[in-house]
Amino acid sequence: MKVVRSISELRLEGDVGLVPTMGGLHAGHVFLFETARAESDVVVASLFVNPAQFDDQADLARYPRDEEHDFAVAQRAGVDVLFTPTPGEMYPAGFSTWVVPGETGAEGAARPGHFRGVATVCLKLFAIVGPARAYFGQKDAQQAIVVRRMARDLNLGVDVRVLPTVRDEDGLALSSRNVLLSPDERERALGLPRALESAVGAADPVAAARAQLNGLEPDYVELLDLDGATVLAAAVRIGSTRLIDNVVVKGALS
Ligand code: PAJ
Repeated sequence: MKVVRSISELRLEGDVGLVPTMGGLHAGHVFLFETARAESDVVVASLFVNPAQFDDQADLARYPRDEEHDFAVAQRAGVDVLFTPTPGEMYPAGFSTWVVPGETGAEGAARPGHFRGVATVCLKLFAIVGPARAYFGQKDAQQAIVVRRMARDLNLGVDVRVLPTVRDEDGLALSSRNVLLSPDERERALGLPRALESAVGAADPVAAARAQLNGLEPDYVELLDLDGATVLAAAVRIGSTRLIDNVVVKGALS
C-alpha cells in the first residue's frame, strides 16, 4: 500500500474505486474497502478528518486519530493507495468555493453547514482521484444520498454505491465515535438501534421509536425519503458523544 500525502504525488490509472474516510477505521470501513477491492482494479482510500464538516470545534478536537492503526487496517483490507492530505493541502489560503446541497432535514437541520462540508470535500476527492465508483455506508444514509445527488446534479460520472450498515453483535452500528463511549454509555447506546428496529413495522414508526428510546434524548427522530427508500433515522447524545443510526422501513438504499 502506498501512502500519499500530497495531491501532486497522486498518479492513478485504470478503473479506480474510492472509499472516502476520516480514519478511526473499523469493520464498517473494511467492508467498503473489500467491496471496492472486489469491483475495482485500483482501490484508493482517503483518510482526512475534514474540518469543514464539523459544526462543533470540540467534536473536531476529540475525533479519534490513530494513523498507525489506520494504515495497518487499510493495508490488510487490500487498499492500494491511501491518500491522507493535510488540511492545508485540501483548503489552501484563499479557498472560497463551496458545494451547497439542497435542504435535507434531520442531520442537515441538526448540523448547519455539515453537508456543505461533506459535499465539498467529496467533490474535491472525486476531482483529485477520478474514481469510476465511490463507496459509502448506509450508517450515514443522508450523507450517501447527498453525495449521490451531487454526482447526478453535477454530472460527475461517479457511481455512488451505498452498502449496508455493519453492526456489532449486539446491534450497535460501528462508528469511529464508539471508542469515546464509557462502558456504561455504550450499554445505554444500545437503546438507539433497539428503538429503531422495534419501530420498523409500526403504523407510526417515529412515535414508536421515540417511545422505545429508553431515556435517551434524541436530536431528532425522522422518517426520510432517500432516493426512493423510506428510512427511519435518529440522532442521540450520550454524554458528550453524538451517535446516529437508521433503518430502512420501505424500499432499498443501494
Ligand atoms: P467516516 O465516518 O470515516 O465514514 C467513512 C465511510 O464509512 C462513510 O461512507 C460511512 O457511512 C461508512 N461507515 C461508517 N460506519 C459504517 C458502518 N457501521 N457500516 C458501514 N459503513 C460505515 O463519513 C465520513 O467519514 C465523512 O463524512 C466522509 C464521507 C469521509 C467525508 O469527509
